[in-house]
Amino acid sequence: MLTSKQAVLRRFWYATVPVERLDDGPVPFRIMGEDIVLFRGDDGEPAALRDRCCHRTAKLSKGWCEKGQIVCPYHGWRYDRTGALTRIPQQDAGQDTPRFRVESYRCQARYGTVWVCLGEPLADIPEILEDSDPAYRRIQQFNEVWHTSPLRFMENSFDNAHFAFVHKGTFGDIQQPAAKKYELMETDFGFTADAIVDIRNPPESHRVTGTTAPDIERKLRNRWYLPFCRRLDIEYPAGLRHIIFNCATPIDDESIHIAQILYRNDREEDCSTQELIAWDQAVIDEDKDVLESTDHDAPLDASSGEEGSMISDRPGLIVRKRLLRLLREHGEEEVRGDGPRPKVLHRDTHLDTCSTDLITNEAGN
Ligand code: FES
Ligand SMILES: [Fe+2]
Repeated sequence: MLTSKQAVLRRFWYATVPVERLDDGPVPFRIMGEDIVLFRGDDGEPAALRDRCCHRTAKLSKGWCEKGQIVCPYHGWRYDRTGALTRIPQQDAGQDTPRFRVESYRCQARYGTVWVCLGEPLADIPEILEDSDPAYRRIQQFNEVWHTSPLRFMENSFDNAHFAFVHKGTFGDIQQPAAKKYELMETDFGFTADAIVDIRNPPESHRVTGTTAPDIERKLRNRWYLPFCRRLDIEYPAGLRHIIFNCATPIDDESIHIAQILYRNDREEDCSTQELIAWDQAVIDEDKDVLESTDHDAPLDASSGEEGSMISDRPGLIVRKRLLRLLREHGEEEVRGDGPRPKVLHRDTHLDTCSTDLITNEAGN
């Protein structure tokens, strides 16, 4: 799927930068190939406009803010948060300002992050109850660009089979490759997926997990929110919670912006923000490295025969099935790139049997 070609995906909220980034002036961003500028409007709340002046197309993000409005760097035309032109400095006072405007987008601050929707929203931003729960602290962990697609990121989030390999340098145990099955329930927003997995607990993660035992259990109560948000809700022994919320915002077909927010029900002195960032950075760097080696143009339609699958791929196959259904419900078909795509050879192998079963029976394509 080429994300930027699927119009219905414009109708979801996507996370961009932390709100405080706007304190230093306008910030450029790109969603689904659309260049936008983010800035604080006259009410102090974030605003999003198309990053293109309607005079001679200069990027507004190279300008500055004045009285909660954005000033173009080229000839100083000024726009308010709705995109309406409010001032042409070269005109004489008393002359009417022409009613030009640049396109504006829905924009709001939530969980310390600026969220943007390019169209009429089909769903609200996922609710994170812990954000208003005093038992939890919020840590803005990461805002980084990955060269992969949001589908690859979402699938990886619910793929227990990669821990032993991709995360062998942190919590994975390559001697234990068997993947724990999820208890999975489809919902209107996506699905819930629960599992208990065994992990290694090296000394570097003792303060993160709250225990010094060398091997521990992780209780996972995960959620996928259509199309590209996930909640990775980890419970460590003694009830310590490590809840990661991600939005994989499509920048264009080949890259995503990862926003990662962490909620913990412990205190800074138990495990500092710096320690939590360092540990999770090591983990997500492992994912990033392998995901950037995959083809961004992953097929939604499992019957394409381009990729083999196994039982543990079931959550990812459901993600694909639901995305395909979403497109079709809105009159779209999956758009693919025209790069070469070899077919997987279908022989009488175990994997092939799994793949066929999953595709026809479980994922329902
Ligand atoms: S291009 Fe923006 S004011 Fe001229
Ligand atoms: Fe991972």
